[in-house]
Amino acid sequence: MAEHSCTRLRVEYLESPLGLGVSAPRFSWRMDTTEPGVVQTGYEIEVREASSGLLLWGKERRDTGASVHIVYGGAPLSSNSVYDWRVRTWSSLGDEPSEWSGGRFETGLLQASDWQARWVEPVQVPTTVERWSLFDWVMGRQPDGSIIDRLRPTQLLRQRFVLEAPVLRARLYATARGIYEAQVNGMPADDQVLAPGFDSYEQRTSVQCYDITAALRAGENILALTLADGWWAGRIGLTGSSAQWGDSTAAIWQLEIDYTNGDHAVFASDDTVRSAVGPHEYADLFIGERFDRRAIIEGWSAPGFDDSEWSAVTVLGDDLSMLASFYGEPVRRVADLQPIDVSGNQDSGFIVDFGQVITGRVRLVMPQLPAGTMVSLEHTEVLDPQGAWFVNIEGINKEQTDVYIAAGLPGGEVYEPSFTFHGFRYVRITGLTAAPTNENVRGIVLGSDLETAGSIHTSDARLNKLHQNAVWSQRGNFLSIPTDCPQRERAGWSGDIQVFAPSATNNAHVASFLTRWLHNLRADQLPDGRVPIYSPRSPFDRTQAQTGEGLGAIVAAAGWSDAIVIVPWVLYERYADQRVLEENYEAMLAWVDYQARTAASEVPAELEDASLNEQRRKNQALLYNTGDHFGDWLAPSTLLDRPFHEAIGIAPQLTSEIIAPMFQIRSLQLLGHIARVLGRPSEADAFDVRRSNIRAAFIDEYVKSDGRLTCDLQGPYVLALAFDVIPNELRASTAAHLARLISENGNRLDTGFVSVPYLLDVLHDAGYSELATRVLWQSESPSWLYEVDHGATTMWESWDAVAADGTARTVSMNHYAFGCVDDWLFRRVAGVEPVLPGYREFSVAPDFSVGLQDVQAHIDSLYGLIEIAWSRNESTATLELTVPPNARAHIRIEGAEETLASGFHVRNIGLQDIPLATRCGSLT
Ligand code: BGC
Repeated sequence: MAEHSCTRLRVEYLESPLGLGVSAPRFSWRMDTTEPGVVQTGYEIEVREASSGLLLWGKERRDTGASVHIVYGGAPLSSNSVYDWRVRTWSSLGDEPSEWSGGRFETGLLQASDWQARWVEPVQVPTTVERWSLFDWVMGRQPDGSIIDRLRPTQLLRQRFVLEAPVLRARLYATARGIYEAQVNGMPADDQVLAPGFDSYEQRTSVQCYDITAALRAGENILALTLADGWWAGRIGLTGSSAQWGDSTAAIWQLEIDYTNGDHAVFASDDTVRSAVGPHEYADLFIGERFDRRAIIEGWSAPGFDDSEWSAVTVLGDDLSMLASFYGEPVRRVADLQPIDVSGNQDSGFIVDFGQVITGRVRLVMPQLPAGTMVSLEHTEVLDPQGAWFVNIEGINKEQTDVYIAAGLPGGEVYEPSFTFHGFRYVRITGLTAAPTNENVRGIVLGSDLETAGSIHTSDARLNKLHQNAVWSQRGNFLSIPTDCPQRERAGWSGDIQVFAPSATNNAHVASFLTRWLHNLRADQLPDGRVPIYSPRSPFDRTQAQTGEGLGAIVAAAGWSDAIVIVPWVLYERYADQRVLEENYEAMLAWVDYQARTAASEVPAELEDASLNEQRRKNQALLYNTGDHFGDWLAPSTLLDRPFHEAIGIAPQLTSEIIAPMFQIRSLQLLGHIARVLGRPSEADAFDVRRSNIRAAFIDEYVKSDGRLTCDLQGPYVLALAFDVIPNELRASTAAHLARLISENGNRLDTGFVSVPYLLDVLHDAGYSELATRVLWQSESPSWLYEVDHGATTMWESWDAVAADGTARTVSMNHYAFGCVDDWLFRRVAGVEPVLPGYREFSVAPDFSVGLQDVQAHIDSLYGLIEIAWSRNESTATLELTVPPNARAHIRIEGAEETLASGFHVRNIGLQDIPLATRCGSLT
């Protein structure tokens, strides 16, 4: 009997994916065994065509420990096909292989030529296209009159098809310009929402694949789609402009049917599709929707309905090369919250508090209401200190209101919006005569349906809350793409995710989600190599940037554009994903080459007329230190004493010139590592040389002989130490100066967006771990625990988003960027950090002096569950550690190192020299 088995089989990170668009999928598994110290010594893998059993790949044992991302190497896979795969492994336990473990995957429509369908456009209700510039936004300009009067209804699309024989397998491939819900014979095609998700639609529009076999029947069947404006035609982004990709919505689908008799049929969107106006008077992602229950056309999506009065659709002849199989996990309802409080009354409205800032919408069960009763649901993330209604979002989406018009149904009615979502904790409901019960009003959380990957729990409730707040901001902003915030902009800001990506990997399996976003980011890269500050980037954004000024004209920016290098690197470190490095390599090169060209042709404005000596001219020709950037965005001290909209320009002014070349150096350093991983040593060497030349130029221009920088803010020092741009002999003085700046600031951070992720590491690594601890436990703003102490349930955009007296500012309460500290909690407080990619080897080095009595954490690595629990008293600590099979841990404590193989381990550690420290209470 084999003493190990293969479990958790995955193809491209997913269990049994449908509609996969990858021509060479990757397979992963875990070893499961109760025996300690086991490693895999070999594997055998087979891939077969499911219907015929034909072997496409396999039949030989490979002597290797590799168990993740094994790349398919067999005969080309066909479109719309089912494949079975199985694996067995040999281990250090002996010669006996494991039993076979099996999985399945299906391919989507892999080539544009697989599509017989055409885009179909329902009769369009004209919409007023509203375009706003950043300038309008900054000036607080609002559209004239009511936006709501200019929104338009949803559309219904309906196609009839007749099945000749019993069906063995049916797959629906569908997507839209807009967002859609598909039904088959009156039943939802599945449980995903907001399909097809947000993409750089012109270059790639994701196609969903649904298994609709069970919904079909012999004879007449109906495929029905409800179509709304979504990201394509609705309002989105910083300016809230509409129709940024187009003002006409459309859909395309193809049904692939295998009959039990072996025949195959295809039904595709074409001129047989009929359309009508839907029951939503409008449905906009930002503004909300207005749904008239009386306007439902009964039976429209089921067979037997007479659609002869419906309109024909326009069939478009568009090229279909932008259609791409959806990669990763779709958006679903991922949680359902009940209120913690309902206050107010019929006249002022009932205010429902869900106790948690979330992204999603409300499901409301209503009693019988007179037909025509209007029930409205307004959303906000925070109330005023007295508990009165207050809206924290400015801009055109400040409304965030859904409206339901009752039909007067005898048993009461249920409403949950379909084509919108909001960022909120509180909902004000008007139109009801009695307060809804906890059962009748629910907060439905929407997000990309990612598997949980880790947890951390400590003996301190505030730290636990901080972690939970980061998790909730991740959940709220991992909705189809990684966004800055789920209410005001909902944009895929590259800087924000660059900063937060490491934290994200601890909390959820984010590899496929971020890989898909990187596809979009690459699609949006400009021909000159610039990587945009957010993606998807609309055609409107492109024209807008040409006429913008200052911050509004920024297309690429230091610390934002570098996401093209940093995010793939994080995915490599945490998931051993080499393909994501390969896929993005060219884009990374184009970005650093753009920086090099810009450096060679521009000098900072203050040097334009200066006569520079030869050396300085050479330095300047290497340094990417010009152009508009966000700099160390939102650095706290730069925001003081000025109106916010003016103040946000200060950090860019003060820090851009020094920060941009530091990110240039960082990207080249990572590219050196990446080229080595990809087996390109000479390119790696060339990157190292480029980096070291630019580093030398940077030191010449920006580092003074006492280790100080020309810009004396915390952020630049943090980056300079983190990115190794300080000469070795000056590092200690630079670190001492940074430590001084922090102490003089009352042990409070003054780092902005792009430096804060490195702050605690830099202090710790430079020997200031006690100061790092003080900054972590700090409860005066700016600090992480100030937010916790002032009621935060998610990470705020600004450290002082809520003042000490409870007054909230009009900023986002759900911005994950400052949640980057969550990664520190896993790496230094729990103490687990990858040494080899994917945690195949990891270090365990908890900070026992952080001021905690105990910590428990787990990370669900690709190799299996890493579990750590430590507890301490005055003199000893106990460490319990589970190392997954096929992985190894290196415990590193106080200069001593011990390597541990898989299994459960307990260690007792003497702590004479490590004081219990300096926790919150004892800090001054
Ligand atoms: C967003 C940020 C983003 C920034 C660019 C803001 O409006 O909300 O999170 O990175 O603009 O500086």
